[in-house]
Amino acid sequence: MSSKLISKVTLTAMTTAVLSAGIGSTSNAAESDKAAAADYTKMSPEALAEHLIFKAKGFKLEQPAQEGGLAGKRLEQDETQKICTVLRGKAADAETAEKVTAMARDSIRYPEGGIQLGDWKIGRELAWSGFGYRIGHKNDDHSGAKNGPGGNCYNCHQLATDRTGGNIGPTLTGYGKLRGTSEAILKYTYDVIYNANAYFPCTHMPRMGANGMLSSEQISHIMAYLLDPESPVNK
Ligand code: HEC
Repeated sequence: MSSKLISKVTLTAMTTAVLSAGIGSTSNAAESDKAAAADYTKMSPEALAEHLIFKAKGFKLEQPAQEGGLAGKRLEQDETQKICTVLRGKAADAETAEKVTAMARDSIRYPEGGIQLGDWKIGRELAWSGFGYRIGHKNDDHSGAKNGPGGNCYNCHQLATDRTGGNIGPTLTGYGKLRGTSEAILKYTYDVIYNANAYFPCTHMPRMGANGMLSSEQISHIMAYLLDPESPVNK
């Protein structure tokens, strides 16, 4: 695989992953010496990430990924990522926004019986679970997890007031209380969880449904967690 396929954003994330995985723990002493000899302080973030991934072999490109295939495959950008990378964090211009939102809308699949709210208690588990589609030296085993791997929502969003969440995304506390459960809100919420690019082109929010991280059923439970009046999100 060519290292040219990797975006700056991916590289930065990878650098963090590789650094926290600890390059010193490699079993190959020669590789380890070579890595130690490199002067990291003179490298750009991109060069450092390239060095750690491809030269110091701090990341096992060939390890299996949870969703199938190899971990290195995750470094290959899809169409949306290629378009969004060019922006380098800046807001999308009108033409890019239109293209990305159109692609996102096309990706959304709705459940046969229409969008329904599931069980907020299951949704709570999923929203607060950080397991699912991680890459590590050992893959997560979800065979024992009743409701499947989670959605990681808490890492970026404050959800309810009973636990602390992240602030990369806006707070979702009181989401249902503030917006109600009209058809339009159900569709908006489903769409955002399935593929947030439909409303926020080139967003940092992962495309949970479109990328197969969450099933429509799991999304219905998470939606109940956000919208059900009994859910702690709305208390
Ligand atoms: C990596 C961070 C990240 C994760 C993980 C994430 N989100 Fe988001 N989310 C965002 C960001 C950022 C926005 C704001 C959209 C934008 O401006 O790009 C957002 C927006 C939203 C919105 C729209 C908010 C509004 O005010 O209308 C909803 C709803 C939402 N997220 C729900 C979820 C749910 C449910 C999950 C878990 C399944 C989740 N998010 C996981 C980053 C994240």
